[in-house]
Amino acid sequence: MKFSLLQISLLLVFCYVYAAVEEKNQQFKKTYVIHMDRSNMPASFDDHFQWYDSSLKSVSDSAAMLYTYSNVIHGFSTRLTVEEVELLEKQPGILAVLPEVIYELHTTRTPEFLGLGKSEALFPASEAESEVIVGVLDTGVWPGIKSFDDTGLGPVPKGWKGTCEVGKNFSSSSCNKKLIGARFFSKGYEAAFGPIEEAAESKSPRDDDGHGTHTATTAAGSAVSGASLFGYATGKARGMATQARVAAYKVCWLGGCFSSDIVAAMDKAVADGVNVISMSIGGGLTDYYRDTVAIGAFSAMEQGILVSCSAGNGGPYSGSLSNVAPWITTVGAGTLDRDFPAYVTLGNGKNFTGVSLYSGKPLSGSLVPLVHAANVSNTTTGNLCLNGSLIPAKVAGKIVICDRGGNARAQKGMVVKDAGGLGMILTNTDDFGEELVADAQLLPSAAVGQIAGDMIKKYLSSDPKPTATIASGGTHLGIRPSPVVAAFSSRGPNPITPEILKPDLIAPGVNILAAWTGAIGPTGMESDARHVDFNIISGTSMSCPHVSGLAALLKAAHPEWSPAAIKSALMTTAYSTYENGGTILDVATGHASTPFDYGAGHVDPVAALDPGLVYDATVDDYLGFLCALNYSTSQIKLATKRDFTCVSSKVYSLGNLNYPSFAVPLETASSSKGGAGVTSTVKYTRTLTNVGASATYKVSMSSETQSVKMLVEPESLSFSGPYEKKSYTVTFTASSKPSGTTSFARLQWSDGKHVVNSPIAFSWT
Ligand SMILES: *[C@@H]1O[C@H](CO)[C@@H](O)[C@H](O)[C@H]1NC(C)=O
Ligand SMILES: *[C@@H]1O[C@H](CO)[C@@H](O)[C@H](O)[C@H]1NC(C)=O
Ligand SMILES: *[C@@H]1O[C@H](CO)[C@@H](O)[C@H](O)[C@H]1NC(C)=O
Ligand SMILES: *[C@@H]1O[C@H](CO)[C@@H](O)[C@H](O)[C@H]1NC(C)=O
Ligand SMILES: *[C@@H]1O[C@H](CO)[C@@H](O)[C@H](O)[C@H]1NC(C)=O
Ligand SMILES: *[C@@H]1O[C@H](CO)[C@@H](O)[C@H](O)[C@H]1NC(C)=O
Repeated sequence: MKFSLLQISLLLVFCYVYAAVEEKNQQFKKTYVIHMDRSNMPASFDDHFQWYDSSLKSVSDSAAMLYTYSNVIHGFSTRLTVEEVELLEKQPGILAVLPEVIYELHTTRTPEFLGLGKSEALFPASEAESEVIVGVLDTGVWPGIKSFDDTGLGPVPKGWKGTCEVGKNFSSSSCNKKLIGARFFSKGYEAAFGPIEEAAESKSPRDDDGHGTHTATTAAGSAVSGASLFGYATGKARGMATQARVAAYKVCWLGGCFSSDIVAAMDKAVADGVNVISMSIGGGLTDYYRDTVAIGAFSAMEQGILVSCSAGNGGPYSGSLSNVAPWITTVGAGTLDRDFPAYVTLGNGKNFTGVSLYSGKPLSGSLVPLVHAANVSNTTTGNLCLNGSLIPAKVAGKIVICDRGGNARAQKGMVVKDAGGLGMILTNTDDFGEELVADAQLLPSAAVGQIAGDMIKKYLSSDPKPTATIASGGTHLGIRPSPVVAAFSSRGPNPITPEILKPDLIAPGVNILAAWTGAIGPTGMESDARHVDFNIISGTSMSCPHVSGLAALLKAAHPEWSPAAIKSALMTTAYSTYENGGTILDVATGHASTPFDYGAGHVDPVAALDPGLVYDATVDDYLGFLCALNYSTSQIKLATKRDFTCVSSKVYSLGNLNYPSFAVPLETASSSKGGAGVTSTVKYTRTLTNVGASATYKVSMSSETQSVKMLVEPESLSFSGPYEKKSYTVTFTASSKPSGTTSFARLQWSDGKHVVNSPIAFSWT
């Protein structure tokens, strides 16, 4: 078809006019979540929805509500221009108008990290467990698989008010007594991106990505024998709480997870009657009163629902956490004791071990030419094996060295394969150190650490005709040391409230085997036509549902425990040393990790069942915490939906929140008036609740620094009955250190049977 010049100019004019009108109406509109002060509804309204509608109509004739919220927040979401927002903010009863925030999944979409989950039966199946419901906010769910087999499960719990929403390729019969509910939330996403393309993703709870099926089955999947990914990690795949029920809330789409959709899902999950909310997503780190997810989680906590979230994959950089509100359980990631070795043998006879989940035809074993991608590409970033960057004539028949970073690891393999390469050696650079993550690559490959990678590259540039071969080594168990903190796991200190130690704890998040979607292959790439029932991936996305499922087990064992009590049990029984006494290592450095990396330590579910004592916290405790943050009455209202005024005569302290761990900021020489040699004193009060038999607990402390003296009063606490509470104070007297110095200590209470452990992180700021 040919256009005349006139036609083209007409087209341009039309486009211009169209665009101008459209721009005014749409382009400048963005989605906002509007928080309303429901308790102060003007008397002229009978119904709060009527009131919301009238408030919206007063600033915009055209704006339609995307959602109204009535449980975790009061209000609605809609599309508004900046001018409309300004007008709306001036209306009575508006607490805040918060812009939409896009969250992301805490795993790289293309199955990055691969591995397997510990699967011993930790707890005997119980009636009570099948009464617990885990709500998973994620990419949806793939129904009908063995991991959702409901054999042996009784009727759905009586209080359940959820539903199985019908949509594309998802019917009411997609749910059963295991997967008891499924919903999808796309209005915020569609308002931003236009209607969902049904060819690309299902407008229904169906999971086209795999992430949601993986996390849901990790938390509470039924046990499936003989599970594996291409024979790797063979064994029984099971969720942590095999008897608990799953409810899936699809909030993440190809373009991300939108806060207006997430809050709508939390709102429904709370109303539906879930007991645990599992969210392997993050983003939008901000003050709690502006953080829609923190606000939603507060409300869930208030109703006895534990909210477990991934800490993020921003490690090993410090301060890289997300989901840090103290009423959220924030989960980092460690490795398992399992590995998938692959061996690289060089022409000089040297042998290096990496990892791989390749399952196709192996290389013959004879040496083939080895090249570095940077030398066989026509771009300056050739080392990364980006799509279209390799010159086929220089790659064909060779093994190619590609550096990690820049694009998905599985894509690098595909790029090498498409260019005619025979194999790939994926080499870590500084960012990843010695952390190895295995992938279901489509060609023979080995992912190696930085040390091995550098040696292989050295050989390559020193030998005029470098050669290599790659062989897979199957699945190895009993790897020591394990766990180690994953390099990607986000690290403290807490960027929002340094006085609260985060992450709370770590759980397995590297090379985790769980169920997968039927919609896409294990690499998540369009071009990967393979179908697998189980996949091995990594991320704090994978560690979070481990803790969600374990929280469900604790809820079943102790239905009366609050979310804070369950979190405390998981934290104070977590371990931070190996059997030989050495501290859990950090794979990013190869050295001992710290509470900024692992929080209280690695989860130990059997110990958590019987913690002896817990640090409980009520809504009032969190309100006191918000007072200590100097939140105004309206900020507190926004965060909690409560009318609460801090008592002006009362001294609130962040460190006094009854938290199971301690983060203690201390003064440096420059910040204190007296100069060098000065000491600062910080005193915290904590209250322990007895959840075991009558017993007397004695305190003990250990510290790696002489610079802080710790004094606990009293040193012994006697509990004579269940749920009895006893308080103690701990006084830290520290001499000044240079700014940026950190040090760590432990405080533990023991009755000889239980050990109630709290990490302490000191930082001189
Ligand atoms: C629809 O569901 C069936 C049965 O679960 C599945 O086999 C099929 O792949 C699904 N189709 C799409 C397009 O998701
Ligand atoms: C390389 O190391 C692996 C594991 O130690 C071993 O199985 C293999 O035989 C070695 N290959 C060579 C050529 O030494
Ligand atoms: C680089 O090489 C690729 C593959 O041969 C080719 O498609 C591309 O056009 C080349 N780009 C440049 C800038 O030479
Ligand atoms: C590379 O890009 C092309 C064109 O966008 C696409 O068709 C192909 O699938 C991509 N290859 C990989 C390995 O991602
Ligand atoms: C290939 O790359 C390596 C590492 O970047 C370099 O040392 C070597 O000189 C390059 N070789 C050629 C032939 O360009
Ligand atoms: C709150 O205000 C008090 C008094 O001004 C101040 O000392 C304290 O540092 C503030 N706390 C925070 C968390 O900003």
